[in-house]
Amino acid sequence: MKLVYLETYGCQMNVADSELMLGVLGRAGYEQTMDPEVADVMLVNTCAVRDNAEQRVIGRVGELMRHKRPGDLLGVVGCMAQRLGPVLLERVPRVDLVVGPDAYRNLPSLIEHALRGGRISDTEFRSWEHYEDVPPVRTPGATQFVTVQRGCDYRCTFCIVPYTRGPERSRTLEDLVRDVRGLVEQGTTEVTLLGQTVNSWNDGRHDFADLLRAVGAVDGIRRIRFTSPYPTDFTDRVIEAMATTDAVCEHVHLPAQSGSNAVLRRMLRRYTRETYLSVVERLRAAMPGITMSTDIIVGFPGETEAQFEETVSLVREAAFDDAYTFKYSVRDGTPAVKLPDRVTDEVASARLSRLIESVRAQTRARNMGRVGSTHEVLVERPARRGDMMLGRTRTNFLVLVDLPEEAAGEYHEVRLTGTTGSTFTGAIVAPQLAVL
Ligand code: SAH
Ligand code: F3S
Repeated sequence: MKLVYLETYGCQMNVADSELMLGVLGRAGYEQTMDPEVADVMLVNTCAVRDNAEQRVIGRVGELMRHKRPGDLLGVVGCMAQRLGPVLLERVPRVDLVVGPDAYRNLPSLIEHALRGGRISDTEFRSWEHYEDVPPVRTPGATQFVTVQRGCDYRCTFCIVPYTRGPERSRTLEDLVRDVRGLVEQGTTEVTLLGQTVNSWNDGRHDFADLLRAVGAVDGIRRIRFTSPYPTDFTDRVIEAMATTDAVCEHVHLPAQSGSNAVLRRMLRRYTRETYLSVVERLRAAMPGITMSTDIIVGFPGETEAQFEETVSLVREAAFDDAYTFKYSVRDGTPAVKLPDRVTDEVASARLSRLIESVRAQTRARNMGRVGSTHEVLVERPARRGDMMLGRTRTNFLVLVDLPEEAAGEYHEVRLTGTTGSTFTGAIVAPQLAVL
């Protein structure tokens, strides 16, 4: 029995990919260990979206090297592996394996090769690769990720993802429904459907609206989330399916990136501020009480002070409940590298701080107004501090509740009693609702 240690960075898709790798390796006789010290193979699943994500990984790889005994292997997998390929083997002599997201099926043979002393990389794109036949090894729990689409066909000029994850491909509806049924049998009641432009999912015979309805019709599924949708792929059909499928949660993550039409154009986003806001409006009209979060990049090449202000005003106008904010990071090989008028780090940092401040104030104000309201909470896991449990409302609010660890996976009616600004405390008002 060989032991594999796997560490995951980056997005939810990487978490799902790590589960997939454990599936591939499990079939080949590997078992997971949480201790790098005893592992025969150490793998780091990486993100390449921003430079600071890569710097963190480089630091961590350096630390893991210290656990390497003779005969042990250290591998870098995922988007950074794909981006750098064999160069990574040249630059970091103690890395034995470099494996991109379309090559996970080959992990056992690549490991065998490396064990015989041949350091190796596999970063070929395989546009047919869906890993349908590989059962992921998931951490048991009521809420699970399901990858419905891999790769991306959009070409946002700042983004490395199309170059690390290859062309878009969708798994079939039948396959996905089978997967979700299997999850329900193991106790899952909430699924998060994953894809880079998840609402453009299309298996050739069905669109995302069909998928939402089909997953919603699986007995035992109480909640459906999905991430990340692309604003202009919210067709009327998709919004209609969201509104009429009870399981679809009242929350959407809707990456805006900027509030300025000039910047959006340079980013090659396929919408204007106005069309973006019309999507927000249509979603709110169809699903009263829906909450919204977004992604924003500041300091994109050419961004003027006035254009940045348009982003700040978009946050207000769209009334986001939360926003993930980033400083633009130059990614070699993306079209934006060639854009003139780069914004200095100093200016970008100052803009980022200002944006974070206004997002925080807005989130806080909106959340204060929610104290006293009652929500259905799915209890997820113990909170980091104290002996409370952390749960989530359908609207994606994190709530601390006083429940024992055994309550994980239960649904409770909870009244929000206070907020730190971002998370809530809550009190149980009714015991678990029976699952019909
Ligand atoms: N399709 C995915 C995008 C993945 S990248 C999605 O919509 O979620 C996740 C976020 O990282 C993007 O929405 C963007 O806000 C940010 N991002 C991507 N490339 C970036 C870059 N070069 N610099 C800074 N932030 C970036
Ligand atoms: Fe990246 Fe744009 Fe696709 S942000 S993942 S290129 S939709």
